[in-house]
Amino acid sequence: MKELVIIIRPEKLETVKEILNNRQCGGMTISSVMGCGTQRGTTEQTVNVIKGFKTTINLLPKIRVEMVVKDEMVEDIITDIREKVVTGNVGDGKIFIRPMDDSVRIRTGERGDKAL
Ligand SMILES: Nc1ncnc2c1ncn2[C@@H]1O[C@H](COP(=O)(O)OP(=O)(O)OP(=O)(O)O)[C@@H](O)[C@H]1O
Ligand SMILES: [Mg+2]
Repeated sequence: MKELVIIIRPEKLETVKEILNNRQCGGMTISSVMGCGTQRGTTEQTVNVIKGFKTTINLLPKIRVEMVVKDEMVEDIITDIREKVVTGNVGDGKIFIRPMDDSVRIRTGERGDKAL
């Protein structure tokens, strides 16, 4: 099993939900987050103030999607997301992939990928 952590533009949430639904993923968790990548949230290094401190980092609203899937689904999901979420502009987002040891469906006690 792998956990995919997918950071996207808020306006791409419906697209990603559709992709994951079509791929029959077991479930997903969505959060509203703030973040920046290599441009530090801006193309011009404007000076911003965060908690009273001057900073050149600007945090932009993003959506974080977490999902745990079977290993064999990972590459298909990455392909779908790259095809349908890309705009070609900076800030399109990222997919982080990490190993997931185990899972438990609380209702039944099923374990591993049977619990997804
Ligand atoms: N190395 C990272 N660690 C944690 N979160 C990251 C990282 N890189 C990007 N993110 C998250 O992903 C969001 C989108 O990143 P973004 O697409 O701007 O990455 P980038 O590396 O700057 O690529 P691009 O040049 O295409 O903009 C960020 O706002 C942040 O929430
Ligand atoms: Mg960027």
